[in-house]
Order: sequence, then structure tokens, then C-alpha cells
Amino acid sequence: MAEQRTLVLIKPDAVKRGLIGEVLARLERKGLRVERMELRTMSSELSDAHYAEHVDRPFYPGLKAFMTSGPLVSLIAVGDEAIPVVRQLAGATDGRKAEAGTIRGDLSLSNQQNLIHASDSEESAKREIDLWFS
Ligand code: PPS
Repeated sequence: MAEQRTLVLIKPDAVKRGLIGEVLARLERKGLRVERMELRTMSSELSDAHYAEHVDRPFYPGLKAFMTSGPLVSLIAVGDEAIPVVRQLAGATDGRKAEAGTIRGDLSLSNQQNLIHASDSEESAKREIDLWFS
């Protein structure tokens, strides 16, 4: 048993579609705890820092415009192996390809408006939690 903390963003598309509760319920039903949670709008600077490894990718300007377009929910999810567990609940990046039963597989048709971000490693989780909740 290794308890982990991971950063989750319930993205602006989920907030606009009224799916905050649906995403949170899936995390909570799995047994994860919410440790910190905030509704906020991502600034341009925070987007560049959060997505540092993607800023030179061709899709980044569109991703940034979307992520800064309106409020999102940032939270820290805690539990046994929380980092891979939340990634599994989220499903593959592209909602059209994500498995049914996952958040993206059930509720998204996009690789950008895909409802949820979840840290992909212990290193990312630490970096992202520091960025969002320091
Ligand atoms: S990659 O290629 O594996 O490094 O990318 P991935 O980790 O799957 O995705 C990183 C984030 O970029 C978003 N993304 C995109 N947005 C717009 N257009 C395209 N083509 C695209 N591809 C990936 C994706 O939603 C990921 O956002 P986060 O917030 O990390 O989930």
C-alpha cells in the first residue's frame, strides 16, 4: 500500500457541461479522498508552467486558449496508488479512443475537451501540486 497524492483538473468543458459532480463522484466512488479543492480560472502564466513540456507543440495554442477559457476545478486526490488509479479512471487522452467505462470514454469525443487532467508520474504530481497549491 503506497498512498499517493495526484493533481486533478476538472477541465473547463466539464464545468460548462455541468459534469463536476459526475467526475468527482467517480473519483470518490473509487475510494479516493479529496484533500484540497478550488474553482479557479487558469492564467496564461500558469498554463505555460503547467504544460511546460508541451508549449512548443502545434496543438498548444489551442489547448491554452481552451484551458484559460473559463473556470476549472483543481484538486488533490489522495489514496493508494492514486497517480495510476486516477489515470486509469480518466482513460486515454482522446475521448474517441478511450475505453468505455472511463471518464473520457463515456463522456468525451475530443483529445482537447476531454474533461480531466491527471498527473502522469510521481515527479509530475509533485511539480503540479506545488504549482497549483503552493
Ligand atoms: S502526448 O502526445 O502523449 O505527450 O500528449 P498527451 O500526454 O496525451 O496530452 C497532453 C495534453 O495535451 C492535450 N492534447 C491535445 N490538445 C489539443 N489537440 C491535440 N491534438 C492534443 N493532443 C494532446 C491533452 O488533452 C493533454 O492535456 P492534459 O491536460 O495533460 O490531459
